[in-house]
Amino acid sequence: MNIEGNTFLVTGGASGLGGATVKLLAAAGANVLIADVNRDAGEHLATELGVQVRFFPTDVTSEADVQSAIASALELGGSLHGVIQCAGIVIPRKILDKDGAIHPLALFTKGIQVNLVGTFNVTRLAAKAMMQNTPSAEGERGVIINTASIAAFDGQIGQACYAASKAGVVGMTLPLARELARSGIRVMTIAPGVFETPMAADVSETVREAVARLVLFPNRLGRAPEFASLVEHILGNVMLNGEVIRIDGAVRMPAR
Ligand SMILES: NC(=O)c1ccc[n+]([C@@H]2O[C@H](COP(=O)([O-])OP(=O)(O)OC[C@H]3O[C@@H](n4cnc5c(N)ncnc54)[C@H](O)[C@@H]3O)[C@@H](O)[C@H]2O)c1
Repeated sequence: MNIEGNTFLVTGGASGLGGATVKLLAAAGANVLIADVNRDAGEHLATELGVQVRFFPTDVTSEADVQSAIASALELGGSLHGVIQCAGIVIPRKILDKDGAIHPLALFTKGIQVNLVGTFNVTRLAAKAMMQNTPSAEGERGVIINTASIAAFDGQIGQACYAASKAGVVGMTLPLARELARSGIRVMTIAPGVFETPMAADVSETVREAVARLVLFPNRLGRAPEFASLVEHILGNVMLNGEVIRIDGAVRMPAR
């Protein structure tokens, strides 16, 4: 899929991995719709990048919000060619903490709702919009790229909710790609290791340094433009479909 002149919707595009993706797509000449709950950061980034980038306040768990965000993307660029899903939250919590307090069920539900149900919600509504596209010479109508995490495979203590939500994203990649193949829509998932973003900034410097030491090569945390660069490659490489790609410097996370 060409980036230049096409239109992309980036959830979680106001910050971190999504923000870097928005910048890369805009620099490559795409129209970009930032769909995020963070209005201040989203509007700021859209203003910084110019008229081809628009922010639309969107909660990925809301059917109405996502439908309106897609309508805004269609208004911006005429059709919707790609969706990159970077909206996500972390719920770090043991099921029983050291004082015996139980993991609140509502917290588990919230993590699943945003990371998994939100991803599915955006996928189904975006696929409907992409069906309207005239296929490329290769028969391609659209590309959907989801973001899981290496926690889907190497979930640590305290990550039951986060790992389950991301494993769900991994699990639906192949069935969605199989179903949408007949419409020329590819579905891919990226599973990042630990990247330097506001999300990772929540943990202490000591923990960040300890995690960076686990990364085999390069011996550091990932940088958001490296994630965006993988998005760029996936968009351009039509043979990539129905697969999950780890981008993690060969780290395998231990139990804690
Ligand atoms: N940073 C990492 O180390 C890392 C590692 C693995 C996976 N990930 C995943 O990558 C994605 C991006 O993370 P990041 O590090 O850029 O984090 P981030 O916190 O910088 O960005 C996440 C964005 O998602 C938005 N968001 C949260 N809930 C939303 C909702 N309901 N609807 C719409 N937007 C919502 C936030 O406002 C924020 O702008 C997430 O799915 C995260 O789980 C991050």
